Amino acid sequence: MASKLFTAGQIGSLTLPNRLIRSATQDPFGHRDGTCDEKQVALYREIAESGVGAIITAYSYISPEARSTGIQVGFATPEQRASQKEVLEAVHAAGGRLILQLMHAGMNVFMPEKRVEGGKLLAPSGGMTAPNEMTTTEITAADMDKIAADFVDAAKAAKEMGFDGVQLHCAHGYLLSQFLDPNSNHREDEFGGSAENRFRFPGRCLAAIREAVGKDYPVLVKINTNCAGEADGQYAEDILYYCRQIEALGADAIELSGYNWLGQGKKKVPTFYLERSKAIRAAVGLPLILVGGVRTLEGIDEVLSAGIDFVSASRPFICQPDFIKHLEAGEESPCIGCTKCLGNIWSKEGRRCVKHEIPEGFPKE
Ligand SMILES: Cc1cc2nc3c(=O)[nH]c(=O)nc-3n(C[C@H](O)[C@H](O)[C@H](O)COP(=O)(O)O)c2cc1C
Ligand code: SF4
Repeated sequence: MASKLFTAGQIGSLTLPNRLIRSATQDPFGHRDGTCDEKQVALYREIAESGVGAIITAYSYISPEARSTGIQVGFATPEQRASQKEVLEAVHAAGGRLILQLMHAGMNVFMPEKRVEGGKLLAPSGGMTAPNEMTTTEITAADMDKIAADFVDAAKAAKEMGFDGVQLHCAHGYLLSQFLDPNSNHREDEFGGSAENRFRFPGRCLAAIREAVGKDYPVLVKINTNCAGEADGQYAEDILYYCRQIEALGADAIELSGYNWLGQGKKKVPTFYLERSKAIRAAVGLPLILVGGVRTLEGIDEVLSAGIDFVSASRPFICQPDFIKHLEAGEESPCIGCTKCLGNIWSKEGRRCVKHEIPEGFPKE
């Protein structure tokens, strides 16, 4: 029987020709001013031409102080937006669909120069040490107003520019997941403590985006299905609450990931978060997307037959931008999950994936 992967699916008003999505993937060759490079345009064109269901952009920061790393693309300035528009036009010209991922890093900042506008590193809780070794400052009500307004401004601009949807990044330790995760949220006010309180600010951002872009514009959320340590037992319940709330606030789909995706790649687990996703499937009705470890048609069929609507992948597209064509041919991804593609290996070694040939003209080691 033909795989359901190659059947059309719906995310709100957006029709996808198949069930495979390229998950958000930071590009190694953005400029330090947060604009895109022509290599990004070419890469996105290539992925779109392969016929993938949809592409989610790299995580794009919504304001200068929301940035995570120096090689990240932004969606904060007119120049950054204009450069992302070039990527969008290339994807559309190739017949593809492009969803813009919007993020605020919170304390998850890796910039070595510790550049944070205003000198503060905002996070749900103050007094914590960030990856860039700065100490965090607790987000105030005024900060929340500004961040929610920045998300809304970016989402409205994305819609006006013709992006096929936006995705609110609530996963992988960035600001909104810092609120959701009890390991990083120690607040004692109405934004911390219970799952209801921890969801309050991410929920407010989602509701504000939905109100600003209208009910027919695709709005997706990416979220962690788990968290680190002992708190994960309770989080297994909390995630059901979060997903129900996200559905109630009118999101069109939830992409299910986990805090520990980085450590999972080499284990040859067919998909990382299927068990939690099954529990979420039983709790909500909106479309679900499973990311993490999607490598083979067999694994994909297992996910789709569990009632998950879509699968998404990142590293297989770094290995092979036309990953879907290989699945069509019955091949599995050659990705070995080494994650050497995270970071700017492209510029250092002239390649991004260890499996890639070093392109002509790039310096060799
Ligand atoms: C190089 C690289 C960059 C990534 N950039 C992002 C990003 O910008 N936003 C995001 O939500 N996830 C990002 N991820 C995580 C992926 O979207 C995905 O959740 C994770 O890699 C697991 O899927 P995979 O096993 O198919 O790679 C990145 C992963 C890699 C390897
Ligand atoms: S560098 Fe490693 S993890 Fe990244 S795409 Fe290549 S094989 Fe996969």
